[in-house]
Amino acid sequence: MDKPLHPQTLAAQGLGRVTETYREIVPPIHASTTYERGADGSYPGGRVYSRADNPGYDAAEALISRLENAKAAMLFSSGQAAAGSVFTALMPGDNALVPRNMYWALRKWLLEFAKPRGLGIELYENASIDDLAAKARASRARVIWIETPANPTWDITDIAAAASISREVGAVLAVDSTVATPMLTRPLDLGANIVMHSVTKYLNGHSDVIGGVLATAADDEFWQKVRYVRSAGGAVLGPFEAWLLLRGMRTLPLRVATACANAMAIAQRFQLHPGFSHILYPGLATHPGHVVAKRQMSGGFGGMLSVRVRAGEQASKDFTARLRVFKRATSLGSVESLAEHRASVEGPGSTCPTDLVRLSVGIEHVDDLIADIEDAIR
Ligand SMILES: Cc1ncc(COP(=O)(O)O)c(C=O)c1O
Repeated sequence: MDKPLHPQTLAAQGLGRVTETYREIVPPIHASTTYERGADGSYPGGRVYSRADNPGYDAAEALISRLENAKAAMLFSSGQAAAGSVFTALMPGDNALVPRNMYWALRKWLLEFAKPRGLGIELYENASIDDLAAKARASRARVIWIETPANPTWDITDIAAAASISREVGAVLAVDSTVATPMLTRPLDLGANIVMHSVTKYLNGHSDVIGGVLATAADDEFWQKVRYVRSAGGAVLGPFEAWLLLRGMRTLPLRVATACANAMAIAQRFQLHPGFSHILYPGLATHPGHVVAKRQMSGGFGGMLSVRVRAGEQASKDFTARLRVFKRATSLGSVESLAEHRASVEGPGSTCPTDLVRLSVGIEHVDDLIADIEDAIR
């Protein structure tokens, strides 16, 4: 068949590869940590040791590569390990530019761990390409990091505009696209060099795997350094987790479409509600990033939104406590809806507004989710 298959078909079939011996529709789990040498010392199976690689990664990495239009993908033991590997591949004295609003644990690691060890870390305003450009030119940044939509206010960064600046200064442009997923945005098609996901979130989608992935536009020197960081550093995914990830990805398009529709319905239903001062969702025309989001996201604006409770911090904690259908838990991107008072999770040093509650909208019936929010804010 010459016509390229749609992402929905590729995902549903896990690329449709059938293994030779038993013609299984579902691939096996490869538990072996080591592989036999031939008598001549070679490795006829092409594998040596599972800290470098595992055959169970192949299908998941290939599917993510196809969905992201990437040359190659690499699984990691967590999203943090995947993101950290990009920065670990740099040298002391190199500069990296990262957004002011981003996944808080990565910002904390960069500022409190990587920076004291010699990496230059500068923050730019997420939505300001002028700020990003000025700082990238002044620092000759080696890596420019984007998270879009960005935790926890869902700020949008223009990936194509950032890509033209990163080309100008010779930086690697890496995009944390965890919230957008490959179903809504394809950063490599917009000029990024590397795309990263916490697969813990939408790609696996069932709150039962911690994992991460990087996918690259080119199998170049930088990618080989990152590959070395994984195999030598050892932050590899377990074989069962890789298998669960592939199983989860088979329903990614359906789950993302439903989460997007539910989140949009909730945002529209509550945008004028007197109990909330702000509904932060890039799908609303009132969101500052809406125009750029419309350009670089297709098929929806994601399943993440935040609400700010007008009556302040204590009222936002009370609102969270009264939710019944939304479960009070951190994380995002799963089939069940989650809510959290974000500043409490991020702790001291958080830049999150103290009246903000982050909602990860799942695939439940939207009327149940809306009724839950209505009851809790009343
Ligand atoms: C946007 C984003 N990036 C990265 C991470 C880190 O991923 P992990 O928890 O898999 O290490 C998270 C986790 O919440 C996240 O939300």
